[in-house]
Amino acid sequence: MKAAVFYGANQPLKVEEVPTPQISSGEVLIKVAACGLCHTDISYIDHGVPTFKKPPLILGHEISGTVAEVSSDVTNFKVGDKVLLPAVMSCGTCYYCRSGRENICSNMKMFGNDIDGGFAEFVKAPAKDIFILPDEIPLIEGAIIADAITTPFHAVKNRGQVKPGDYVLVIGCGGVGLNMVQVANAVGASVVAVDIAPAKLEMAKKLGAAATVNPNEVPDVAKAVRKLTGGGADVSFECIGNPKTMEVAFSALRNGGRFVMVGYTEHSMNLNASRVMYREMEVIGSLGCRPVDYPKVIELARAGKIQVAPMVSKRFSLDQINEGLDYLRSGEGFRSVIVP
Ligand code: APR
Repeated sequence: MKAAVFYGANQPLKVEEVPTPQISSGEVLIKVAACGLCHTDISYIDHGVPTFKKPPLILGHEISGTVAEVSSDVTNFKVGDKVLLPAVMSCGTCYYCRSGRENICSNMKMFGNDIDGGFAEFVKAPAKDIFILPDEIPLIEGAIIADAITTPFHAVKNRGQVKPGDYVLVIGCGGVGLNMVQVANAVGASVVAVDIAPAKLEMAKKLGAAATVNPNEVPDVAKAVRKLTGGGADVSFECIGNPKTMEVAFSALRNGGRFVMVGYTEHSMNLNASRVMYREMEVIGSLGCRPVDYPKVIELARAGKIQVAPMVSKRFSLDQINEGLDYLRSGEGFRSVIVP
């Protein structure tokens, strides 16, 4: 089969012929329909973040496709089924899995990191970990549910515990933040969206943001948000991975507010300890999404309460994958997918 192979940092992916995966007991082979391009892929290629499996490795963790082959002991899927693969699979036996926190599993396996991923014509996966994609969800655009939509769902519902009527602040309206806007809107929050790119703010409005703030147009973003929300947001989400905007997300909260960190950075941020203590603030991390929540996200997309198709701004073929990565680096568009 054809695949885009990662051989190491600071070099383009190489599109070449590799052996088609052979399935074992409990596994299915999936013909990839689409695989989303994500900043995590850029972090391996441009920033030298090490992958768990040493290269050569096929990247890509937002995968949709159709079942091409099933192992003889698999009974819950058949050839031709449309499926979604979770970005990360959990072991089911560690302390975290046994206590219902599979998204922080000690032995997690991520496509395109621990094992070969979806920038290929085929990928294999354990049948126990994959999900049916209903006909109402477009197979290609549905790929982005696997990370760009499930991650915001977990952040909003489980970590942010957003309630109807809450004021929610989303800082950074890229692939993750825009979906944070639509998930928070779907649960009945009033969302204030912040981004430096006017096109992202336009899209945030289309997805239900009640108000938008462009940091290039106001002297103090936290102050502007406190004004828009009658004293501060109930819950804020930072979706960039920048310590400075994390500090803004924290200071835009009302007393007793909850700050959820979704963006990733290896740097430290400043927090005023007395403010956290004296005003009963909450500072919370959020990572990925548990398998138990995937059917709920798929149902929200099926019912049209979360939009999938408008979130995909471009499609690239496998041969164009390095062009697709450049498009991601440029910051244009929302999410793009590889269609092998
Ligand atoms: N203030 C406001 N918005 C900003 C700023 C800033 N100082 N700097 C960047 N942005 C906006 C960009 O314009 C862009 O719309 O933040 C957005 C970031 O989006 P993407 O680059 O598309 O990143 P995304 O894929 O959404 O990931 C965001 O979440 O899961 C993590 O690792 C991921 O840390 C990353 C974060």
